[in-house]
Amino acid sequence: MLNPEVSKLLNEQVNKEFYSAYLYMDMANYYADQSLDGFENWFFVQMQEERDHALLFRKYLLNNGEQVTLTEIAGPEGGYKDFKEPLTQALEHEQFVTASINSIYEAAYRNKDFRTMQFLDWFIKEQGEEEKNAEDNIKKFELFAGDPKGLYMLDNELKSRVYAAPSLVLD
Ligand SMILES: [Fe+2]
Ligand SMILES: [Fe+2]
Repeated sequence: MLNPEVSKLLNEQVNKEFYSAYLYMDMANYYADQSLDGFENWFFVQMQEERDHALLFRKYLLNNGEQVTLTEIAGPEGGYKDFKEPLTQALEHEQFVTASINSIYEAAYRNKDFRTMQFLDWFIKEQGEEEKNAEDNIKKFELFAGDPKGLYMLDNELKSRVYAAPSLVLD
């Protein structure tokens, strides 16, 4: 059993992580439609990571005797105006997720739920990496994507990202 407030927030995080996966799949679809296969690949891998995050929160809830309540996942807004917009939206979204995870951590701390704090430590670190990756994509885009050749090369670089299962494993 977990504290009800913490449990509720963890349940909401399952939805937020699935929404993240949905959002990044939408961005992958956008780039695929624009024939930017590298950008598509990068966001497709990102989508897989977000699905994994959702499943980790699910497993943690189940391992602690909590019910998992799945709620409706909102559809992404889409309608990107240029190649850069998904990159800036991705950074804003990661900042939103960081704040969300911080607020669960804060609730766990307030309720002396040290187990959940330890579980969340992985996500606290992960969010630092997520924000950095999103910032790097924006910086690279600004540096290199100003002309078609640069965009082509950046797209090629982003093709090399491969999916890896999360380093956090819950039995
Ligand atoms: Fe995530
Ligand atoms: Fe993320």
